[in-house]
Amino acid sequence: MTQNELKRNAAEKAAGLVEDGMKLGLGTGSTARLVLEAIAQRRARGELVSIVGVPTSTETRDHATRLGIPLASLDDEPRLDLTLDGADEVDPGLDLIKGLGGALLWEKVVASATARLVIVVDETKLVDRLGTKSPLPVEVVPFGWRTALDVVAGLGAAPRLRNGPDGSPFTTDGGHFILDCQFPNGIADPAAVDMTLLRCPAVVETGLFLDMADTVVVAGSEGVELRRRSDAR
Ligand code: A5P
Repeated sequence: MTQNELKRNAAEKAAGLVEDGMKLGLGTGSTARLVLEAIAQRRARGELVSIVGVPTSTETRDHATRLGIPLASLDDEPRLDLTLDGADEVDPGLDLIKGLGGALLWEKVVASATARLVIVVDETKLVDRLGTKSPLPVEVVPFGWRTALDVVAGLGAAPRLRNGPDGSPFTTDGGHFILDCQFPNGIADPAAVDMTLLRCPAVVETGLFLDMADTVVVAGSEGVELRRRSDAR
């Protein structure tokens, strides 16, 4: 099975958790796109007629609009029932790294407004320790972003400013830059790293999503499994 087929299986399972009338957070990335498509398929069958989605990026807003999914802003709907989103890494305690797609700030704001955050991944995203496969994306303000470099280096990581396709700095929907921070041996203490980074005024947010995911839907070659935070403890 290809990674894309696994993502699709996970996406279809996750879309099955949506109930009519729900206010939904809509994540960003290739898996989240497949979730949108699975939701649209249910709507095409006459289900989920009265859902409303709050997108976590302009990319997701545009894709959901093309699929005919009704949308609202977080200002219109500041309390959400369920958010479905992807992740770059998931550890055994269901803590996450997110943001390789560049939408981490809006994703975290939406996740924080939701009663239940469900993460949708294929099994390649599972790690024993965060930061082992993926760099940690850290969103920084363009003004004085270099002041964050020493903070990242002080944590033992190597920061790299993310560039867009034209070679200029990648800019998030919020108008910020991203530092991709590589930890040579992964992140031993994610909470301490998060706290240290957030103390730097140039840092807007980190891609560490700690104690946020309620459920992770994992697709592997053997099938799709639901892991719950309550079971992980
Ligand atoms: C977007 O900013 C990210 O947090 C994505 O959710 C994450 O990168 C997963 O993306 P894929 O589903 O494309 O792997």
